[in-house]
Amino acid sequence: MENENKQLVLSVKDLAVSFKTDAGLVHAVRGVSFDLFKGETLCIVGESGSGKSVTSKTIMGILSANAVIENGSVVYEGEDLTKIDESEFHRIRGHKIGMVFQDPLSSLNPIMKVGKQITEAMLVNSDLMKQKYDRIISKEEAAYKNIEAKRKTAYQRADRLIENSDEDYNKQIYALDSKIKEAYYKASTINPRKKEMSALYEKYEKLLHETKDGEKRKAIYAEKQKELQPLIDEMNAARVEASKEASQIQAENKQKIKELTAQKKSEHARIAAQAKQLKKEADAEFNASRPALKAALDAKKKEAKAEIEKYKVEEKAKYDADMAALKAKGASEEELAKRTKEYNSLFKISKEEAKAAALKVMAEVGIPQPEVRFNQYPFEFSGGMRQRIVIAIALTANPEVLICDEPTTALDVTIQAQILELINRLKKERNMSVIFISHDLGVVANMADRVAVMYAGKIVEVGTAAEVFYDPKHPYTWALLSSIPDLDSHEQLEAIPGTPPYLLNPPKGDAFAARNKYAMAIDFKSEPPFFKVTDTHYAATWLLDKRAPQAEKPRIVSQRIKASLAREEASKEQEAKEVKSEDNGGDQNA
Ligand SMILES: Nc1ncnc2c1ncn2[C@@H]1O[C@H](COP(=O)(O)OP(=O)(O)OP(=O)(O)O)[C@@H](O)[C@H]1O
Ligand SMILES: [Mg+2]
Repeated sequence: MENENKQLVLSVKDLAVSFKTDAGLVHAVRGVSFDLFKGETLCIVGESGSGKSVTSKTIMGILSANAVIENGSVVYEGEDLTKIDESEFHRIRGHKIGMVFQDPLSSLNPIMKVGKQITEAMLVNSDLMKQKYDRIISKEEAAYKNIEAKRKTAYQRADRLIENSDEDYNKQIYALDSKIKEAYYKASTINPRKKEMSALYEKYEKLLHETKDGEKRKAIYAEKQKELQPLIDEMNAARVEASKEASQIQAENKQKIKELTAQKKSEHARIAAQAKQLKKEADAEFNASRPALKAALDAKKKEAKAEIEKYKVEEKAKYDADMAALKAKGASEEELAKRTKEYNSLFKISKEEAKAAALKVMAEVGIPQPEVRFNQYPFEFSGGMRQRIVIAIALTANPEVLICDEPTTALDVTIQAQILELINRLKKERNMSVIFISHDLGVVANMADRVAVMYAGKIVEVGTAAEVFYDPKHPYTWALLSSIPDLDSHEQLEAIPGTPPYLLNPPKGDAFAARNKYAMAIDFKSEPPFFKVTDTHYAATWLLDKRAPQAEKPRIVSQRIKASLAREEASKEQEAKEVKSEDNGGDQNA
């Protein structure tokens, strides 16, 4: 309900991203959806490996080469960012959507002065007429791009059909092959009398150790051999038996492998034909809508060119008239130069303008003595100051969305708090939308308008900050909340037991089940849907099913919530008192 009044900025839908590795496909993001609204901070929280960075890199279009976007979309200004060309992505990346990474050093050039790095970011997009042109045609261009994207998606889907089928067969063949190998391994190592044999070895070792007499030793050896032989015979018999079994298994499975390989081949051919058909249909659809959209785009391009031409002519006329008037008036060189500069700046950001803007943005992010700092190299800055520079660079393009991926993890606690405060302030002043990523719910508490909790490539709970902190529903959120160090005692609390699942073969059901002490049988079998708690609060846990037994959040979580609510109440009262005593006293500085 609340969301209805908000302006949607970015929409991620059913996003699935995998990585091709030697071991197979790693399913890093498995169906993530969320919306980002104007001026809000959405925090994405989860343990290491839950897919937070992969999600943000998908939005930025900077996934590594082995990544496959298997499904879903990231819609920004009517365009699906997962479908636009690399060559064009720069229009959006670092421009309308900025990003700040965990390690500021890796995003800065170590051998370029900081000031230059900031101005370069500005000068990349310094052609103001080009920007104007892009703005004018953006709607028609997006519509045209979308049909291209749609065709591309259909092509990818078709290719995935083939790959999936091959992969299915490969898995089965690998399993059969493993069975054969296991059987032969067993045949070469099996020993039903292992225990007795080692006991004998030990016994005779001892006896031999006790005497140096050659005759006696000979007798001991003979005795040992006599006792051992039947056991060895038994072992060998067992191995012969196991070998027979292994060749049996080999014969059976070899046959199955042969059949599967043949099936794989024919299935591959069948699906390839199907894929070809799908591509043909996609082509047909593309070709049907293309001419009209292409014509509309071309017309708009013409219009944009004409509009810019007209603008240039008009401004030139104004400039010429002004200059003539100034000269007639006997204006100084300075005045003339000023007017010329003004005129030039309509078309291009000049170096001086870029520098002035850089100094301004450096001051804005809290860098003291920007004039001095402008000419220094990254190594001359502390970690916190470097992160401010990275934020300054991200801000130069005046982004609408800022993605911060663990921006404070590499910093110590006090500096961390300052950077968080900075991001909060900038967000408010610039009315940006922020996606803030952290593995620590504690860090997020003072930042978030809304929180999405991620686990094993999925969002398992999402809600307003108050809902997730004060009324958490998913056992994983409970576990995360229990693991935040206590604010007052700094006591390190319950670590979450176990480790996240390996995403090569994601588990069935609720991925958190194996680590969840509240898990029920169904958690291991089928995946929980999102249950609605309120209009803004959803959680994917079977505990919210009507049939589930009542499960209470752990005591430690409820205690902390109580304590935190009490603190909040106290600070509100305090504030109320302060406001009263202040009367109507002047402006309040934050
Ligand atoms: N290039 C890659 N090749 C193979 N697997 C990858 C690649 N990049 C990421 N992964 C895998 O994808 C999963 C999600 O990784 P991601 O970096 O998104 O985690 P994260 O939530 O950001 O964790 P962290 O808190 O450690 O930054 C992990 O299992 C990771 O190993
Ligand atoms: Mg990460």
